[in-house]
Amino acid sequence: MKKLMILIGMLLIVMSLAACGGSGSGAASADKKTLVMGTSADYPPYEYIDTAKGSEVIGFDIDIAKQITTNLGYELEIKNMDFNSLIEALKNDRVDFVMAGMTPTEKRKNSVDFSNIYYKAKQLIMTTDDNNIGSIDDLNGKKVAVQLGSIQEKEAEKIQQQVDIEIVKLNKIPEIVQELKSGRIDAMIIEDAVAFGFLEKDQSLDTFEIKKPAEKTAGSAVAFQKNSHIKEAFNKELTKMKENGDLDKIAEKWFTTK
Ligand code: ARG
Repeated sequence: MKKLMILIGMLLIVMSLAACGGSGSGAASADKKTLVMGTSADYPPYEYIDTAKGSEVIGFDIDIAKQITTNLGYELEIKNMDFNSLIEALKNDRVDFVMAGMTPTEKRKNSVDFSNIYYKAKQLIMTTDDNNIGSIDDLNGKKVAVQLGSIQEKEAEKIQQQVDIEIVKLNKIPEIVQELKSGRIDAMIIEDAVAFGFLEKDQSLDTFEIKKPAEKTAGSAVAFQKNSHIKEAFNKELTKMKENGDLDKIAEKWFTTK
């Protein structure tokens, strides 16, 4: 009898240890009061690493995330990864939320929840001056690159229905710009705020807009696990920041307007 009791006792200890390991390995251990943000720091000025200044991820999204988490009483930890891994990281509980200039789409909404939109973006075609590409028709027979896992993949497929293009999918935006400059691709699809930063630094780059009705404009939102308890708090903070002008101030700090 005594042996049995000891055995049961040991079993209980083992079981409770296993349970701890299970929840403790997740990103969100509530007691720590740290929120882990997933991002893809290849997207200036939303999020990037200024290698001249160090290894810290900085940008528009980061400033917003810092303000929100501070106001809510959390520490912020940033995990940098490929854009294409972000939704998976959320699903696997490796991050608590994602800010990566990410646009809410129906497909993504199947697996994650989104905050309200905090910034709008237009889709541009970026080329080089000497490519003589000024319209969608000019893309016929050309190589057009997009970031893997981005909504620009869909944009490219739409263009492919109109003209014959080869779609090239790559992981990082600066890498795509490099491919463009070296002539290995003819054009890329990129969002306006990101394009402006590259245009400013490089006179040989050129853009034109993929015209769309206003309601089709893409925007950025924070992504969360389904039914995440922090979503509403984030939405409240975002609304506050819209109303008190903080969001505009952060946008002015990071975005060059044409
Ligand atoms: N807005 C686009 C999307 O959601 C592109 C975002 C790319 N973000 C990044 N950090 N590279 O698909």
